[in-house]
Amino acid sequence: MTQEREVAVVTGSSSGIGFDTSLTLARNGFHTYATMRKLEGEGSKQMADILKDENLPLEIIQLDVDNDKSVTEVINRIAKEKDRIDVVVNNAGYALVGALEQTSMEEIREQFETNFFGAVRVMQTIIPIMREQKSGKIVNITSMGGRVAIPLDPIYHGTKFALEGLSESMRYELEPFGINIILIEPGAVGSNFWKNFKMAAKASGHYDVDNGNMNNAPYKQLENKMLESFKQMEQNTIHPSEVANVILQAVKTDNPELRYVIGNDASMVLESRRNLSDNEFQNFMKKTI
Ligand SMILES: NC(=O)c1ccc[n+]([C@@H]2O[C@H](COP(=O)([O-])OP(=O)(O)OC[C@H]3O[C@@H](n4cnc5c(N)ncnc54)[C@H](OP(=O)(O)O)[C@@H]3O)[C@@H](O)[C@H]2O)c1
Repeated sequence: MTQEREVAVVTGSSSGIGFDTSLTLARNGFHTYATMRKLEGEGSKQMADILKDENLPLEIIQLDVDNDKSVTEVINRIAKEKDRIDVVVNNAGYALVGALEQTSMEEIREQFETNFFGAVRVMQTIIPIMREQKSGKIVNITSMGGRVAIPLDPIYHGTKFALEGLSESMRYELEPFGINIILIEPGAVGSNFWKNFKMAAKASGHYDVDNGNMNNAPYKQLENKMLESFKQMEQNTIHPSEVANVILQAVKTDNPELRYVIGNDASMVLESRRNLSDNEFQNFMKKTI
């Protein structure tokens, strides 16, 4: 008798961490649903090409984490088809950059809709299924930015800190049902993240300040520094497959840790956070950035 494959669902699989995680899970025996919001994009074509070469237990399906109907229909369909869901990786997300006063409520809501409520929506649908089967692993991709914050990213950090707090609390309620919650905290990862980040529409970068008048652009200097710093971070990234491999190890472990920090940058920054006072850490970050 062949052993039944474990079933995994990954959100935001069209590129980066989600793309590599879907393939890594499938290559390691999980029947994987690589979900993405657009099936007509480059990511699904690339994944389909890999599927042609390798005979993987992987299906590409459409799922928009912002949409209640999309999430419930897809998750319930998978549960019906497979009678179980063993692993879910809440990965879909992007960064919103801009000072709070220059960020509209609409932009803030959109950022929370994907990074925070997207994961919440998926968990609310999947937990009853995992509870019934008395097992499951929920992997939430936060970031080292879920525990420390850099300038001009207040809403992005808000979403990631929120997901960290929610997950830490949920750990207690899920444990009696054999469900583990796992937080993945990478530092900088080489992916589309760096070209897909959204600048708040009213951020200083959109003003013409060539004449040196900074009145309309009070955050311009900090913004320039941060954009420069993003460029440097982007040059010192790890490959998404490193994150995927850690996720694989975590979901294969019987008693996974709550948190997995990935990348030297993340380890170094989080260690400094542990050892320094708030003021010392702020000075350290100002120097580092
Ligand atoms: N890259 C880093 O340095 C880094 C570091 C720490 C944490 N992270 C986190 O890692 C996760 C993955 O990011 P990445 O680095 O792999 O970036 P990425 O290459 O830009 O991938 C992000 C994925 O999320 C998808 N997505 C966005 N909104 C969605 C929605 N409403 N529904 C479904 N999918 C949606 C994107 O789909 P489309 O192709 O359709 O846009 C894409 O597949 C994010 O949560 C990010 O915050 C990244």
